[in-house]
Amino acid sequence: MNETRRAVLDALADGPVTGPALAEDHGISRTAVWKHVEALREAGFEVESASEGYTLAGVPEYGAEAVEFGLDAPFDVEYYDDLPSTNDRARELAIEGASDVVVLADQQTGGRGRRGREWSSPSGGVWMSLVLRPDVPPARAPLVTLAAAVAVTDAALEAGVDAAIKWPNDCIVPREDAERGGDKLAGVLTEMKGEASRVSWVVVGVGVNVNVDPEELGPDATSVRAEAGDVERRVFVQRVLERFHEVRDDPDAVLDAWRDRAATLGQRVRVETANGDVVGDAVDVTEHGALVVETADGRKVVHAGDCQHLRPADGG
Ligand code: BTN
Repeated sequence: MNETRRAVLDALADGPVTGPALAEDHGISRTAVWKHVEALREAGFEVESASEGYTLAGVPEYGAEAVEFGLDAPFDVEYYDDLPSTNDRARELAIEGASDVVVLADQQTGGRGRRGREWSSPSGGVWMSLVLRPDVPPARAPLVTLAAAVAVTDAALEAGVDAAIKWPNDCIVPREDAERGGDKLAGVLTEMKGEASRVSWVVVGVGVNVNVDPEELGPDATSVRAEAGDVERRVFVQRVLERFHEVRDDPDAVLDAWRDRAATLGQRVRVETANGDVVGDAVDVTEHGALVVETADGRKVVHAGDCQHLRPADGG
């Protein structure tokens, strides 16, 4: 949404305000005011007009303008009813030079998860990818992913879900009896391009099972609907973006928040890595997002892999 339209929208929200007052306050013609109001109606905003002026009477349920309205973080939003994958569109934008843009889709037809897995993305979920250009060396890029996991978990907690983080960046609802520590609520898929010393761009793909039935998802998955009931997706996305923006430039805040919300720390874990399984007690996360595991052969630092929380009977 361009700046003037955003300002007109804010004025309508504080309304009633007359057309001539809008024109004067924003330095535009009355015809331009009318065009902005019509464009907002077209985007789904309910704008009532009466003798005392225009008033905003309703906000669209979802979409670019809906998310941008009232968003307290500097992101532009691009919305699609469906896309193969928001990460693919975000990569295109990143290559074109975009920054702080969010690609959002109601559903994805080719959603991608970590390690080449498919990611079910039916209508009703939150499927989005952030295009970022953090001024950090590549070794620091994993912090961006941890920040996204923190942001999603906090939005889920606010929605009433008993959410926690499973290393490296899954948001789960912990269950005592679950094979993998809990049911998956959300995941993060980060892709990046970097030079030796600097990151060029990062795409952070965030998938959250929001207003969807778990039967529509893969095994061991849950949703906000199943845990706490439906929420306004527009507001959920805003919370994720605002929280992400709050912590993204503060590595200590990211790591502290991640540790606070981690279900993995203190657990006995098995991490499947490219070099074999690492089994032991998860004791910490490093500033590079690696998991520190105390094993029978000493302390190991694991940078990538699939992590399982072991129940006592699983041994190891
Ligand atoms: C995981 O395997 O846990 C990561 C899942 C990431 C899914 C999101 S949904 C939005 C974005 N687009 C994709 O194709 N994948 C990510």
